[in-house]
Amino acid sequence: MNKVKILRPDDWHLHLRDGETMKAVLPATARAYGRAMVMPNLTPPITSVKQAVEYRKKIVESIPDKNNFTPLMTCYLTDSTSPHELVKGFMDQVFIAAKLYPAGATTNSENGVTSIKNIYSVLEKMEIHGIPLSIHGEVTNPEVDIFDREKVFIEQVLIPIRKKFPELKIVFEHLSSKEGVDYVLEKDGPTFSTITPHHMLLTRNDLFKGGLRMFNYCLPVVKKETDRKAIVDAATSGDDHFFFGSDSAPHFEKNKLKDKAAGGIFNAPNSIEYVTQIFAENNKIDQLEKFTSLNGASFYGFAPSEESLILIKKEKPIEKDLSIMQGKDNIRSFKPDVPLYWEIAGSNYNNRFEKNEIEDAR
Ligand code: DOR
Ligand code: ZN
Repeated sequence: MNKVKILRPDDWHLHLRDGETMKAVLPATARAYGRAMVMPNLTPPITSVKQAVEYRKKIVESIPDKNNFTPLMTCYLTDSTSPHELVKGFMDQVFIAAKLYPAGATTNSENGVTSIKNIYSVLEKMEIHGIPLSIHGEVTNPEVDIFDREKVFIEQVLIPIRKKFPELKIVFEHLSSKEGVDYVLEKDGPTFSTITPHHMLLTRNDLFKGGLRMFNYCLPVVKKETDRKAIVDAATSGDDHFFFGSDSAPHFEKNKLKDKAAGGIFNAPNSIEYVTQIFAENNKIDQLEKFTSLNGASFYGFAPSEESLILIKKEKPIEKDLSIMQGKDNIRSFKPDVPLYWEIAGSNYNNRFEKNEIEDAR
């Protein structure tokens, strides 16, 4: 199968940043995805309804065709989040979810939650109102091996939250371990999960192949082949607990090429292409649409897109450098050591393509 047509995909986990960076990276997402769950880890973080409304407005104004993409906003949880503010934002359809960053776990998480108990009153309200909790699932205890931080988070934080708030809607973001996959599959309450292209493609060997590879560094860090394989199996299974979230996270090249390099992989320019290739290589192309376009929308209570996207497989690998310049700064695009053969051939939401191509594709 060298051609596939899917309903327009959504990205359920995306970092757009702010200001000129946001303007520079946004087209790479809007070219393919209809909606994206925009992460709130700006400086300062998005903690109030007012901030979220302003941020959303700036994003919408930066899309060349304003109707062609819908940003969905998230609330950054802190030790002092007001349940009232969060519920108000959710009722007004400004906040679609609230994001839990354990303080110190990742980029701009300094204002995150220092102990899960500090937000129990918030979680209680979220459970009552059906507000999804989006979780960066890693413990921050420096004594815990970095490759075990997701597993330990499940034991020390996730299982207790599940027990205390059994009806809380949870998205365990960017699954990175077999233990994480197994936990979601246990269906111990309504726990769902996003999966990134890089966690489906890379292992920790890719962090060190031929030298230290900062552009393969993200959080949670990529792990072993057994973990990667479990993640691919989960994504391609069609199980509605798993859906696509790119975790595309732009950083300037200069901040990746330094001591204490920033964690994050900017994959928006080729994420849907790599995901399609992974499904095709695993003979699971028939499950692609569930993962990219149906399962996430269903979880968040949205109708699937009415638009469509066609991807085709080329004979030769696509070598184009998809990095983006913002002023003098380069934002290097995801480039695993895996040649990419798939590209977008058409859609009915982008003027560049013909509608009849869509009809031909099935
Ligand atoms: O790799 C990552 N980058 N993981 C995160 O959790 C945050 C993100 C970022 O904001 O750069
Ligand atoms: Zn993220």
